[in-house]
Amino acid sequence: MHTTNDDQKDNVNKTHKEVDELTQIKYFGGHEFDGIKELDNPLPPWLKYIFYITIIIMVTYMTRLVVFKDESIVQRKEYSREMSAAKAKTEVAAKEEAVKTEAAPMSREQTLAAGKEVFDKICFVCHGKFGEGLVGPNFTDDYWIHGNKPEDLLKVVNEGVLDKGMLSYKSQLSQAQIKNVIEYILSLRGTNPPNQKAPQGIKY
Ligand code: HEC
Repeated sequence: MHTTNDDQKDNVNKTHKEVDELTQIKYFGGHEFDGIKELDNPLPPWLKYIFYITIIIMVTYMTRLVVFKDESIVQRKEYSREMSAAKAKTEVAAKEEAVKTEAAPMSREQTLAAGKEVFDKICFVCHGKFGEGLVGPNFTDDYWIHGNKPEDLLKVVNEGVLDKGMLSYKSQLSQAQIKNVIEYILSLRGTNPPNQKAPQGIKY
């Protein structure tokens, strides 16, 4: 606390040579604060060896890059090489996918199954579980209010008959889903389920 400049210089000189009694490790010259002195500890061996290994890797890398001009290890090149490989792969996959979908259009069974799925989710509420009719008309008899051609049904499902309680499904279902459900409805004709609703419309 009451040290002068000369005392401090003395201290620095002394600590430089001094050895810690307990550990026998030399002090790190001049680093002292409040009576605590820094020891000149060696690095732990594992850290030291990792450090040496990184030096070896660096030398090898720089030799390949600068001396042998090996461009395959330049990251920018590696990146563009992998990108073009991935692009080629997705192009092949897209082509294969296109071939697959072209080769196999939906079979009649698949269309009806997809249509039934839509029907069982939405339409059964008003048209009955088997299309026997409830609030909405019976789909299993020979009578139709708006016609029985697929285009007629398509118009009803797309636009609805709002004042009679049939909703428009244009925004809720895709055109493919609507076509499927229409196929399904037309396939119900003559299935003769129980509890049929009385005929509505004109006989076709
Ligand atoms: C909220 C009740 C309700 C739901 C749900 C409903 N409908 Fe209807 N639907 C009706 C009613 C009511 C009519 C009769 C309209 C009329 O009298 O003009 C009808 C009529 C129809 C017709 C014309 C029948 C005919 O005789 O010309 C078709 C086709 C039809 N619906 C298909 C569907 C399909 C497909 C679904 C499911 C995506 C569906 N409906 C869901 C109530 C409903």
